[in-house]
Amino acid sequence: MSVAEIFETMAYGPAPESATEARRWLDAHAPALGHVIANRAVPPSDGDYFESVDPATGKPLIKIAQGGAADVDAAVAAARAAFDAWSRAPGHVRARHLYALARAVQRHARLLAVLETLDNGKPIRESRDIDVPLVARHFYYHAGWAQLLTDEFPGQVPVGVVGAIIPWNFPLLMLAWKVAPALAAGNTVVLKPAEYTSITAVLFAELAREAGLPPGVLNVVTGDGRTGELLVAHPGVDKIAFTGSTEVGRAIRRATAGTGKRLSLELGGKSPFVVFDDADLDSAVEGVVDAIWFNQGQVCCAGSRLLMQESVAPRLLDKLRARMERLRVGDPLDKAVDIGAIVAPVQLQRIRELVARGEGEGATVWQPSWACPAEGLFYPPTLVTDVAPASTLARVEVFGPVIAAMTFRTKGEAVALANNTPYGLAASVWSESVNTSLDVARAIKAGTVWINCTNVFDAASGFGGYRESGFGREGGREGLYEYLRPAWESISHLSSLAPPPVANWPLDPTRGPTVQRASGGAWGDASPQTPANHGAWGSMDTAIPRQPNHADGSLDPSHEPTAQPASPPGGEEETTIDEGWLPSPAHGKARWTVDPAARDRGSSQPWGGGEGGPYPSIDRTPKLYIGGKQARPDSGYSRPVLAPDGHYVGEVGEGNRKDIRNAVEAAHTAAGWAATTAHARAQILYYIAENLAARADEFATRLAVMTGAGRDAGRVEVEASIERLFTYAAWADKYDGLVHGTPLRGVTLAVNEPIGVLGIICGDRYPLLGLIALVAPAIAMGNAVVAVPSERYPLAAADLYQVLDTSDVPAGVVNIVTGPRDTLAGVLAEHDDVDAVWYDSAGAGACEVELASAGNLKRTWIVGRPPRDLLDPAQGQGREFLREATQVKNIWVPTGD
Ligand code: NAI
Repeated sequence: MSVAEIFETMAYGPAPESATEARRWLDAHAPALGHVIANRAVPPSDGDYFESVDPATGKPLIKIAQGGAADVDAAVAAARAAFDAWSRAPGHVRARHLYALARAVQRHARLLAVLETLDNGKPIRESRDIDVPLVARHFYYHAGWAQLLTDEFPGQVPVGVVGAIIPWNFPLLMLAWKVAPALAAGNTVVLKPAEYTSITAVLFAELAREAGLPPGVLNVVTGDGRTGELLVAHPGVDKIAFTGSTEVGRAIRRATAGTGKRLSLELGGKSPFVVFDDADLDSAVEGVVDAIWFNQGQVCCAGSRLLMQESVAPRLLDKLRARMERLRVGDPLDKAVDIGAIVAPVQLQRIRELVARGEGEGATVWQPSWACPAEGLFYPPTLVTDVAPASTLARVEVFGPVIAAMTFRTKGEAVALANNTPYGLAASVWSESVNTSLDVARAIKAGTVWINCTNVFDAASGFGGYRESGFGREGGREGLYEYLRPAWESISHLSSLAPPPVANWPLDPTRGPTVQRASGGAWGDASPQTPANHGAWGSMDTAIPRQPNHADGSLDPSHEPTAQPASPPGGEEETTIDEGWLPSPAHGKARWTVDPAARDRGSSQPWGGGEGGPYPSIDRTPKLYIGGKQARPDSGYSRPVLAPDGHYVGEVGEGNRKDIRNAVEAAHTAAGWAATTAHARAQILYYIAENLAARADEFATRLAVMTGAGRDAGRVEVEASIERLFTYAAWADKYDGLVHGTPLRGVTLAVNEPIGVLGIICGDRYPLLGLIALVAPAIAMGNAVVAVPSERYPLAAADLYQVLDTSDVPAGVVNIVTGPRDTLAGVLAEHDDVDAVWYDSAGAGACEVELASAGNLKRTWIVGRPPRDLLDPAQGQGREFLREATQVKNIWVPTGD
């Protein structure tokens, strides 16, 4: 082309990056790359290899080892062997290693970038200017966390051996996102790169060895999904950190269920790119280019749905088509190319099929007039209009350079469309109005929202999804917690979660707050309004009129109570246990006493004929608590509650699937709770505490009678519950977000948002505290909950209905369904409108919950694994609970012109 022609066309000439060094490195390793285990290149034990291919040319680059069971075993063993020394090394030592890794990446930046482009097909401009610099930045940033770890994360220890499984779209960057925080926190790693793009992981492991990283700290085992499966299943792995497709994420969730392995999943997305009519349209067009044509659209957070305000849609589309005409697809090593090659034939085929399916559904497909190179795996930038919100191209992740455009009229419609997807990874909002953009950013359910920018990343900001885009964060302070666990977990303290023995309740009353003892042995209530001495105002449980077992009033003979021994279960409490759950004198109701003789005989006579008069007590059989009201169980059944010695204490409703569904629906009607001010939420928690305190002795007695643990234990539990409510009332307006120190000119706001509707399944150990310790942090952070209280001792939870009623808790914020714990837990875990499930035990039910949660990939927290003493503040309260009750949304807000 002559200079005159160049001036005429203004076309770019070819500007190829040299691949000489990269080819030399490949030649030096030819014909095959092995695994890297304990800093040594290790051939695959089965002798299996597969070819890694340059997608731009279709030519093989080098053979890659297919990892088998023996290879994974060896890598995990190396990581385990290295763990002790690495995790105990001073943070400063680890910081030096991470710093050295960052420097090594910078020293070899060009080699890494070119190999990445050869292997993946991404434009060299991107691998050179985005991927590799971000990799170095991650290691620098996490060198800092290693240095600060003990000061900034007190009481936290590394998780152990991390199995990191990464995809092919950002091979080096995904490695850095996992390896850097894992090593900084003191873990060791076995990394499995994606089968299409393993080369730079092996190069990185070599650089790490050269940089002096001790053997076994980072191991790389290559192979396809089968190798990944072996790593997931390996008993020597303590945590799996996965990025990839939602389907494989689901499979990993199922495979790890019940194993106790920690899990973070960063999965797919169908991210909205929302343009309002006051947006700078030219900037928005450049934004679309970055959103969907960056990395050929093979980006989990690609802005693949263009949502345009109707009034500007035609203008925006015209500008976009004009811009698309000028995009350049071709040789990824050409520095003037915008869009490179698709990673593999199967991915290209998938893109073609999905676009054809969209066309079949009536969408209009537009592509620029120029043709892609005939050789290699290329696909042109594609704009699809006439897309219905329910159609394939509006819902399915294409993972290619294809954007589906739709219109909206109002802000509300924009938010509804943006959230009309099971995913929630990212969003981009374009508006010159700070009110509109921030308002919409808060309303969109996504882990990252970019305002007037898109696809901006930094190590200082957490990245990760809401909903089916997965859970966990990578980057930022929030991301480091994925690789840490509380130190108390390593201390052997409780061997089982078995219900407490009748007489030897393991509670130590001295651990609770000081309680005043009134004369006569009655417990002085902490609440000043409540008389300290309640004397003998209650009735023995045996004197309570027995209630029918069926809600329709018929008796269930199988629940016939037997004559009960007179002495209360908590032997030492014999003289004071006579406070039942009849109305207290403070409430101006009748008093009942039990004829001691009848008591001794274990009489089930409903009234003792004592000073209170000849009336039986008024039945208070609780129902369920749904939508702020007591609701009859759908089954029409109730279940008896028996003390540990088998004596009948009362009954509660027998909740079932339908009740859980109703409760979830009620919880969703309480969505306004999330928007209530933190101060207001705090006030309500204080109010619950106040009302609980007013009835503290009644609750303590209830606990004592129900569990047989004794009055002191009951008191301690009630006081701890009141204190816990105070704790979370205090936290409600103090669990602040952060402003991350990213390089953005502007601010990156890390906002703690509620998760939504939480299913909370309580253990039996603390019938009241077990509920409050979990419900209080959840609602303090703005979630609505459906709680299944202790199956064995549910009456304390049922007694709470009235406390909630009188504490201004909005209807639907707390719903309580009593009944068969694991059955109800399963329903909650399967329910697609439940966003997270907490399960306070470690047994088979925990496994079922994790299995069932794979459906909508809801977050799960097995509170009782390892066994946790909720009474102990170190284990039973604090930031860990708040972290579980929230998800971090990072909002990027550029400032200036
Ligand atoms: P994938 O999810 O199958 O692969 C990701 C990683 O998981 C690879 O290292 C793979 O070897 C490994 N893997 C596969 N099956 C596994 C198993 N059963 N257990 C453990 N590890 C396993 O993704 P793939 O097949 O490469 O791409 C398929 C689709 O997934 C894409 O079309 C795209 O829609 C989506 N995807 C999403 C990514 C994201 O970042 N969100 C990244 C890559 C793919």
